[in-house]
Amino acid sequence: NAKKRQIENILYQRLDNRIKQLLQNIGKTGNELGFNMFVVGGFVRDLLLSRQIDDIDIVVEGDGIEFAKTYAKKEGCRINTYKKFGTAVIIYPDNFKIDVASARLEYYKTPAALPIVEKSSIKLDLARRDFTINTLAISLNPDNFGTMIDYFGANRDLKDKTIRTIHNLSFVEDPTRIFRAIKFSNRFGFKIGKVTSNLIKNAITIDCFKNLSGLRVLSELKQIFEEENPIPAIKTMESYGLEKVLHKDLTLIPNTYQLLESVNKILSWHDLLYMDEPYPRWAVYFMAMLNRCSYKVCEQICTRLNVPLRERGILLEKRYKAEKQLNLIESSSTYTKQELYWTLINFKTEYILYMMALVKDEEIKKAISNFYTHQRGIKPYIKGRDLLKLGLKPGPVFSAIIKQVLNAKLDGQLKTRKEEIQFAAAYAEKTNLLIKS
Ligand code: CTP
Repeated sequence: NAKKRQIENILYQRLDNRIKQLLQNIGKTGNELGFNMFVVGGFVRDLLLSRQIDDIDIVVEGDGIEFAKTYAKKEGCRINTYKKFGTAVIIYPDNFKIDVASARLEYYKTPAALPIVEKSSIKLDLARRDFTINTLAISLNPDNFGTMIDYFGANRDLKDKTIRTIHNLSFVEDPTRIFRAIKFSNRFGFKIGKVTSNLIKNAITIDCFKNLSGLRVLSELKQIFEEENPIPAIKTMESYGLEKVLHKDLTLIPNTYQLLESVNKILSWHDLLYMDEPYPRWAVYFMAMLNRCSYKVCEQICTRLNVPLRERGILLEKRYKAEKQLNLIESSSTYTKQELYWTLINFKTEYILYMMALVKDEEIKKAISNFYTHQRGIKPYIKGRDLLKLGLKPGPVFSAIIKQVLNAKLDGQLKTRKEEIQFAAAYAEKTNLLIKS
């Protein structure tokens, strides 16, 4: 009862040569071993939606690990294997990765427990997946290379722009799928189907999150916050009452949404200018979401989500520090450029962006932006050895002098290395630091 369609031409049009070649080689190698080979899931979905493809997920009707070993040997790749799950990752020398799984029947002993795995066929493998749009497979064996197989109405739902589950217990089996439904609906601009939406409501009503580890909820939340614009997803989460899963007292008020909007603007500005300077983007949205909560509630949310210690620091202590500093800056009328520099230099990108989203005064916002785009990168040319050459004795005084040089530089007084050395010498002379020989 599967719908089949030959889409080899789409593969040829949309994929670059390397991926095309790779898929053909996978098909050939699998064929030699007597296995049916498929590329599945997000790869096919994103191919049909003409979106950028990030991962290659291969399913083998047969032994996925044996396939991975054979293929890796031929192609000069490394592999990591996970015997218990029948899965492997093939890693090319340039770090390009292919995920391989053995077609399997996965079932859950109890809701929210780890799945138990047995070997089985492609249809059963696809049937255990979350949403119809993730259940497409394309055959890779040479005889039927490029045949797309649709068992569960994925094509219809891609056309209808709808997120639908395959079966009614999907969310009870794995409640994290509730967050995934919202993530995909937001990312693709799809609606959540009526029955699926009711299944979400039912799962929440029967308290499906009770046995779910906090870390898994955290991981889903992070993924939503990492999307280009997570705000519609946050609104959908609220419409299902999911914020109460984090804490019964967490409420998102219009002010929270205003702050989230302003985070979104700042991050878009930042990411365009500093594409290759990574930072925890999710954390800025999360900080904004917690902005109105008491410290105690934030602590309890971190505990509920098992937030690891370092990230707890981001959401609790350091966020409060950033908010406090910003209050000090905003309430003082005499904050100089230099003072701003020495305050902000202690904060990482995520906090600076958070402060920029929070700040009310446009002038201060500009000053923080100027710190980030210009001042942050200013470094003195002068080094310790220049000070040694001036006849100064090494010690804490070196960093004090370099700090003075930097201050003058921030003020625009010093341009060249020579000017910096002259300034340092004059400063040392004035404070009687020079060793007279
Ligand atoms: N999956 C699932 N239930 C989950 C997580 C994943 O059924 N809780 C299935 C999905 O069908 C998905 C596949 O496992 O196609 C791989 O998961 P993942 O890599 O997270 O999904 P992608 O669809 O590739 O999502 P993304 O584009 O966000 O990477």
